[in-house]
Amino acid sequence: MSSSLLIAQLSDPHIGTGPGFLGGRMDTEKALHRAVAHVASLQPRPDLVLLTGDLTERGRAAEYATVAAALAPLPMPVYAVPGNHDDPKVARDALRRCMPVADDAPGGACCYHVRQGGLHLIALDTVVPRQPHGALGAAQLGWLAHTLEACRGEPVLIFMHHPPLPTGIEAMDACSLMAGGDELAALVRGHGQVQGLLCGHLHRPVQMQFGGAPLHVAPSVAHQIALDLRPGAALHAQLEPPKISLHRWTPVHGLCTHLSYVEAFGPALPL
Ligand SMILES: [Fe+2]
Repeated sequence: MSSSLLIAQLSDPHIGTGPGFLGGRMDTEKALHRAVAHVASLQPRPDLVLLTGDLTERGRAAEYATVAAALAPLPMPVYAVPGNHDDPKVARDALRRCMPVADDAPGGACCYHVRQGGLHLIALDTVVPRQPHGALGAAQLGWLAHTLEACRGEPVLIFMHHPPLPTGIEAMDACSLMAGGDELAALVRGHGQVQGLLCGHLHRPVQMQFGGAPLHVAPSVAHQIALDLRPGAALHAQLEPPKISLHRWTPVHGLCTHLSYVEAFGPALPL
């Protein structure tokens, strides 16, 4: 068993935005293909890939078929959670390999637990149907408490779409995790071995602390949200160099998070 894990986190590809998206300046399908090719080219090769939601723009079966085709070149395990733009049921049917939903998952939610390389991976479904914000209800929190108890004393990584903390980007804070955050923080703190929480939704790289554990929000592999911390600022998309999050986890030192740029800015130069 490997003592360390390299985890590529890709988020918010929004497949299905169409050719006129952002004035024709963002082809999300091409962006996902480039990100996947980037992951496949990394040395050392990541041990697994996590997708933190908004796989599609409208949650349609044809969009998930495009996602599945884009992910096909990846030889390592790929696990995904849905975001507010997804339809969790359609996603599960189309991406069964990426969403091995637990038999005891509450109310059909896309929650599951897999183990890889000495790390427990717990997927949480924060989707509130037809709403941009997220929530964790009593059933999901109960399932999480039970699952964490089964992993007591062992390292755990949680991944989910909606971040549970505000960032100062008010338009996004208004549609983050709006219920269940305090209970989630208490469960994380009570377990004591949660190595981190990985989220999406914000389309920006953000680091926080939550329940005594590091919390990382990955950028989108496509379009970003403009970094605008002015009170009342309107929501804007921003085209920035595409990047993914690359997490190196070791049992001794925990989680170390890098950003890995999909585009090349010239060759490495000797120093
Ligand atoms: Fe998104």
